[in-house]
Parts: sequence; C-alpha cells; structure tokens
Amino acid sequence: MRTETGTVIRLEDYRPSDYLIDTTDLAFTLEPEATTVRAKLSVRRRAGVAPDTPLVLDGDELTLAGLKVNGETPAENGYTASPDRLVIGDVPADETFTVEIETRLNPSANKQLMGLYRSNGTYCTQCEAEGFRRITYFLDRPDVLSVYTVRIEARTEDAPLLLSNGNRTESGRLENGWHYAVWHDPFPKPSYLFALVAGNLGVVRDTFTTMSGREVALEIYVEHGKEPRAAYAMDALKRSMKWDEETFGREYDLDIFMIVAVSDFNMGAMENKGLNIFNDKYVLADERTATDADYANIEAIIAHEYFHNWTGNRITCRDWFQLCLKEGLTVFRDHEFSADMRSRTVKRIAEVKLLKAHQFPEDAGPLAHPVRPRRYSEINNFYTATVYEKGSEVVRMIRTILGEDGFRKGLDLYFERHDGEAATIEQFIKAFEDATGADLAQFALWYDQPGTPNLTVSSHHDAGPKRFTMTIEQRLTPPIEGAPHAPMHIPVKFGLVSAGSGDMEWTAVSGAEVTGDVIHLREPKHTVVFEGINERPVASLLRGFSAPVTLFPEAEDADLAFLARNDPDEYGRWQALSTLVTRQMKQAAARSADERGEVFDEETCAIFMDIAADDSYEHAYRALCLTMPGENDIAREIGNDIDPDTIHAVHRAASRQLGRFGERIFARLFHGLEPAGSYSPDAASAGRRALRNIALSYLCHGSQDTALAAKAFAQADNMTDRAHALTLLVHLSPRTDETIDALKAFQDEFRNEPIVMDKWFTIQATAPGAETLETVKALTGQTGFSWDNPNRVRALIGAFSAGNPTGFNRPDGEGYQFLCQAIGRLDGANPQVAARLMTAMRSWKNLEPGRREMARKAMEGLSARPRLSRDVRDILDRTLA
Ligand code: ARG
Ligand code: ZN
Repeated sequence: MRTETGTVIRLEDYRPSDYLIDTTDLAFTLEPEATTVRAKLSVRRRAGVAPDTPLVLDGDELTLAGLKVNGETPAENGYTASPDRLVIGDVPADETFTVEIETRLNPSANKQLMGLYRSNGTYCTQCEAEGFRRITYFLDRPDVLSVYTVRIEARTEDAPLLLSNGNRTESGRLENGWHYAVWHDPFPKPSYLFALVAGNLGVVRDTFTTMSGREVALEIYVEHGKEPRAAYAMDALKRSMKWDEETFGREYDLDIFMIVAVSDFNMGAMENKGLNIFNDKYVLADERTATDADYANIEAIIAHEYFHNWTGNRITCRDWFQLCLKEGLTVFRDHEFSADMRSRTVKRIAEVKLLKAHQFPEDAGPLAHPVRPRRYSEINNFYTATVYEKGSEVVRMIRTILGEDGFRKGLDLYFERHDGEAATIEQFIKAFEDATGADLAQFALWYDQPGTPNLTVSSHHDAGPKRFTMTIEQRLTPPIEGAPHAPMHIPVKFGLVSAGSGDMEWTAVSGAEVTGDVIHLREPKHTVVFEGINERPVASLLRGFSAPVTLFPEAEDADLAFLARNDPDEYGRWQALSTLVTRQMKQAAARSADERGEVFDEETCAIFMDIAADDSYEHAYRALCLTMPGENDIAREIGNDIDPDTIHAVHRAASRQLGRFGERIFARLFHGLEPAGSYSPDAASAGRRALRNIALSYLCHGSQDTALAAKAFAQADNMTDRAHALTLLVHLSPRTDETIDALKAFQDEFRNEPIVMDKWFTIQATAPGAETLETVKALTGQTGFSWDNPNRVRALIGAFSAGNPTGFNRPDGEGYQFLCQAIGRLDGANPQVAARLMTAMRSWKNLEPGRREMARKAMEGLSARPRLSRDVRDILDRTLA
C-alpha cells in the first residue's frame, strides 16, 4: 500500500517525458500466485535531451527479477530498483536502446483491484489511472504512447481464454497442458489502456458492419450460464456503434471489439483498447434480475466505453489534469446517445437531477475542485462528478453557444488535428475557435474555476413603452479559499411566456447578446431590455438546464405555478414545478412540527394531480414530475444547520398529503397501468412501470398501509416492480411479518446472484431511522457480505452513508463512527473504494452543530490512525480542512 503523503502533483510542473517507448512487448506466464511478466521496451531519448539523463521508470509494489539494457545485464551501480521506481543511470549513449525487465506478481493477493488481479478465478487488469506500474516498471503516464505486442501463457484448464488488446495474431498449445496466445495492437496507446483477461468464461458473439463496409467481430464474455443476460448489452453495443457513425462520423478501427464482465471492479467499466472490462452489474440483465434503471445504466455505460475509442483512445490526455478532456466529452456523448434512444426531455431531467444530487454538493463543499484540477496528491480521487458530469455540461454549453453545426465542425477539426495524440483542454477549445471563429477565452474559465455560479434575477414590465426589463446578476462564491471567480460566459436558454400561453416575440433587445433563444451572460450584471412586449410575461429561464448554475428566480409561487402549467417548453414545466415543490418543502421544514402537516398549498397539489391524470404526457415524464425532491435535495436547498430528522418528517408528511389528495387518480393509474403483455425493457414500457410504481408509493403513503405493496411484491413478474414493492415494504413497515417474509423470499431466490443480492442489502440499508444502523452492522456479519467485493461494500455501507440521511446522521454520531471504522478496515485492502466511501462526509459542515461535532470526532479518530493510504488521507485531509 502506498501510504506516503505530501507529494503534490501540479499542472504547471508538466514537462514532456525525457524518454519515449516506441514498442512494448510483454510476455505473461500466468500463475495464480506467481505470475511472471517479461517486458521488452524499445526506448527512445527525446530529441534535445542530454545523453546522460537517467531513465526513471514508475513502479508500485514491484520486485525486480531481471534487467537487461541492450541485451546486457547492467553493472550493479548502473541502476537502482525499489518497489516504486527503477532508475537506470547508466544509459547507452545511442538515441534508441532496449530495456528488458522481469517482474513477479501475485494476482490472487491483489485486493486493491489495480494492476493484474483475479476476480472469481478470472485474471483481469485495471490500469487507469496508474495501475500499469503494478505490472511492470514503465513510463506510466498518458503522454507516452507505445505499440503493444502481448504474449500470454497459461494452463489451458485454468484459462482456456487468453485476451489482450488489438488483434490475435497467434495461438497454440504448449507442453504440460499449457497454451498461449499473442495479441498485437497496431494503435499506439498509453499504458492505462492496456488490458489482459484470462480465464474460463462464456461468450456471446455478433458482428457489426461499419459504414465503410468492414465487418467487426463483437464478443461479450460473461460467467458460464449467464450468456442470455448479455443480449441487451450486445444490442446496446451495436446501437452505439451505429449512432457514433451517424452522429459524429466515428467508425470503429479494429477487426474485433470485446467486452468482459467481472464481478470485482472498483468502478463502472474501463475503455481498454478493443477490450473493455466491465463491472458485471453494467453488462448482465434480464427481467427477473435487473430493473429498468439497470437497463438504462447498461445502455449508457456500454455506449460510454465504446465512445471512448475515439474520445480517449484515439485522442488521449496529455496528463491526468486533462481527464475531463476524455471523460466530460464522453459523458456528453453518452448522454446524447441515451437521449436519442429514449425520450430527450425525460433523459435531460434525469441528468439534471443527478448533477444536482452529486455534483452540486461536491462543488459547494471541501472537496470542490475545478473541472480541470490544478493539483492532486492521488489522481484516483479525481474521477468525480465534477470531472465527469460538470465536464459534460461544459461540452454541452459549447454546443449551445456554437449551435449544432458549429459544434460538429469544431469536433471534426479536433479529431482531424489530434488523432493519435495526447491532447489538452487548450487544444480542444482551440479546435472549436478555429472551426467557427468564436472567441471562447472567457468561456474557458469553466474549466478552471470551481464552484456553482448563482444567478439572481429580477424583472419588471412597463406597459406604456411595452418594455420588459430583466436584471440578471451572476456571482461565484469560491468554495475553496483563494479559488478564482471571475465572471463567466453563461448561456441562458429562455422564453418569455405570455398569459395566453406561448412564447412572446420581441422587436428589439439590448443589454446582452441574445442569439436565438440564448442570452449570453458575460458581465457580473446585465440589464436586458426587450422591446415590443405588450403584457407582463413570465420568464422561463435556463430551459434544458443550459448552464450548471443555481438560479434564484424572483418568481412568486403563482408565477412558478403558471409556468408549471403553461411553459411551452416541457423541461421548463418540470423545472418550475420542481422549484415550487422544493420551496414549499423547505418552508415546511422551517415551521414547527405541529404546523407542518400541510406541506403544499392547494394549487400545488392540483398541479401534481393534473399532470398525473394528463394522458397526453408520456408516462415517464409524469413519473418524474410526481417524484418529489429527495431528502438530500431538500437539505441542499436549506444549505446549513441541517437537521435530517426534520427533513425526513417533512418528506413523509408531503408524501402523505399528496397520497390522500390524489387517491382516486393514483388508484386509477395503479390499476389502469397493469402490465400488458410480456416484459420489454424499452423506454416506453419502463415509463409505464415507473408511473404505476409511483402511484403505488402514494397510495401506500396516503393510506399509511402497505397491503397493496405486499400484493404487488407477490405478483411482480419483473425486478423493477419487485424491488420497488420490497422497498416500500421495508421502508414503510419494516417490522411486519409481510415485510420479513418478503425479504426472506427475495433472499432465498437470489442467494446465488450477487448483483441481485446487492439490491437486497441496499433496500435494507436505506430504511429510514436510527435503528437501521443496527441492521447494517448485523448485515456486515451475515454470510454473503464481503469486504473484498466493491459492489457489496457500496450496496451496504455506501448506500447507508450516502442514501440514508436519518440513519447515517443519527444524533449520537454512531453512524459516522461506523463509517469511519469501516473505512479504516477497508483501507488496508482497497484504498480506492475506502476513499470513495469517505466522500459521504463531504457535506458535514452543513449539519446542525451537534451532529457536526460528532462527524468531526469520527473523522479525527480515523485521521489519527498511523497508516492510512494516500487515497483516504487525501480525502480526509481535504474534508477536515
Ligand atoms: N475511464 C473509466 C471510465 O470512465 C474509469 C476508470 C477509472 N478508474 C480508476 N481506477 N480511477 O469509463
Ligand atoms: Zn469514461
């Protein structure tokens, strides 16, 4: 474990590597506990670098078993080797030379799941960000691109399957029951994209013919017997390949594309060239085991990793500070793909909800950082919502500013200019500027300034001159001391909605640049004047969430209610309703307990019900409108001095109020939307289930009775309905026989299905109330719980700490103590997952004083431990600072 701290890597210190590695030949002899790796590197000194410059290779927990330079063993004093570094001081004078390195690994003991490890008997690798250095000494940095040839040898019985990047060029038998395969990847790539898989897996095959007529073999590898559950992933892959050709002109480039599903994986998935490796929960699905949300995630993540082939692999990042160059752009691409596959508005609303739930709190707390960070001590801690999701929003804003055509031109130029290179954000922006003539200098601040800008708006209408004046101010409060906060270029999509409905036209506008339906804010304050406006409009601002900002609308409740009913923009209607509802819940939280029964006013209840009953809307849209903001959303709006128990009480009261108010409509929806025909995971069917299930929730809340949920659980013929019903039972009537029986039935059926059992753990971990901590502790001791499996740890401990506000934030601080102890325990084995769990504490400073003190104590206790990993130390230090 790397426990050293204090080394901070800074963007401004970037220097190109002194040496490059043109080709990398690897030979693996796979043994579960003693694998040998022989690497032969052809090294080239970069032009202008002094010939006596030492070659410094990265390592991590490595032992050197052999070394040759230009075929000769170097003298003892010609090099130094330590677990984390190999320095060859005595380098040949020639510009190019070879280095041969032998290392030995124990893949079975690798519980960090970085480098080469074994998951369920399958050898696999994870090299991003710095895992390759756990395999061999290397220039493990993304700007060193090399052509790889990989030979794998293994016992045929253990590993009939031998995979690596690129194309298979050779394979055959060896003596004593061994065999081998050789893979060659013609595309130069950085080491973080290297992959190897070896094991005994089942396969699903298909083909895809690219737009230029080449046939590509598609293979998805899963545990034997699970092949049918890979069908949806395969379909999503083919749709992704087609979509990328049609939308961005991007064609796949190798003869084969493989995906392997493994059950122990730190993140979601990895885009290794030609050989994506996935957390199996993002591959495997059928109606019995996966929910509609699982299907949507699989579609998005399959697309995401595939899209990386161009945005990430063909053009990679110069250094890890540029991570958003590939991640933000690729998230944007997968968002657009899902929007095209499903309903665009519904998809956008879901994205905005996630952004606000995960990225906004990150950007407002001690872990805030710019989309392109300027320093890090552990890069794995920067695979964040800010880099990914805000990074995607920044790309979306570029499209909003340049328009569809300009955006495509800029992206085409970026691909043309930088194919085969390791690029920077500056080069990305320059491509858009050069392709369109736009000036994006101010816009580029989005990459460097942390925090969520606030927009405050006020307006008035002058009937005489028929003039509508809107004053918009932007303010960015630096979330971390000393962060830059200059005014930004913020594109605000808008409409001026008239009382008779529909957007009004204006004859002239001044005070800000307005192009089409976008106001471009650039100054701290704009007074935007619209001429030719006869009557007072209601401004609908930030349509489609055109910028990741917090909007403080002056709008009275009546104006929001008007927009919720009348905004011609569907997204705008949802946004207005959501603002109105959040506001009234927040107000209820400020009232005393006995005055909070009626959370919403009549009109708000009526809007809910009118949407619920309006069959002209898509089911999924109605379901989203009917979903109240979560307890964490309300907490975020309140901002500080948070008491999670009060918020929970308000949430429950609000659900009950709506459940009673809309009982007839919810009953009609629940009974009227009964499953018709066999299950299909398509978006329309999923929307129907979502609406029916939310109706069921309100019926249970309104009647304070879960009999209907128990019935729904028994009758469910798919996991979406089943998991929803079980959640209602466990969260609303945890102690009844019906609930206990349902949990038991679920466990009996899915005992041997880890990714399904994860749901069972999560549903129990998120049951509101202080007692849940006892349940969670008991579950950690249950057979089936494993500290080594990241999915299981996240399903239980992650879900409890991030998704159970009342349980985790118990006033006695025991929830915090539990989390910190769990992190301490995990840290020895898997620092990355431990550090990720720690982020549940990121908003601790917003708690009421009692809990804040408890949270601090728990973290200080953890911090006092002598041997924390760099990963956890980094998050802990920043969180406590
Ligand atoms: N590049 C991967 C993706 O976004 C994420 C891998 C991150 N892994 C890590 N250990 N930090 O698709
Ligand atoms: Zn990615």
